[in-house]
Amino acid sequence: MRQTSSYIFLCFIVAAMAADRAFGQDVAAGEHLFKAKCSICHSPEPGTNKIGPSLFGVVGRPAGHIEGFDYSEANRTSGITWDVPTLDRYLTGPQAMVPGTRMTFPGLKDPGERGAVIAYLATLQPGNATR
Ligand code: HEC
Repeated sequence: MRQTSSYIFLCFIVAAMAADRAFGQDVAAGEHLFKAKCSICHSPEPGTNKIGPSLFGVVGRPAGHIEGFDYSEANRTSGITWDVPTLDRYLTGPQAMVPGTRMTFPGLKDPGERGAVIAYLATLQPGNATR
């Protein structure tokens, strides 16, 4: 009996480590994709706006809330809060989700790529050890 429960515990640890590693790989792939596809218009640094607003802290933030950035009416009044499901939909086709958005980006059609970019965006938070 004792042996069974420690075996189950061990399985749990191994699964958690594997999940953590997969997440780390996603973040690394996401950072790479971000540099290739988003960084032309977006900075991951707080307070730095380019053609698009800074994406620091975007996960959990309501749309259109970076002070001093000239958003489109469509984005500002969208009522969206950027979380994993809304970002996944937006990044599939920004114009389809927010008609009239100024983000002229065709979208990421690969769900794995979207997942990786969103995993990376989720690390752009104050006090995150990876930053
Ligand atoms: C050609 C420039 C351009 C590219 C490339 C681009 N964006 Fe954008 N993005 C914008 C602009 C401009 C806005 C503001 C949209 C508006 O006001 O309608 C925006 C807005 C956003 C928002 C909403 C931010 C907010 O504060 O409401 C998110 C999230 C976002 N972009 C993510 C991304 C990601 C992730 C990528 C790469 C996969 C990307 N963007 C690629 C220009 C771009």
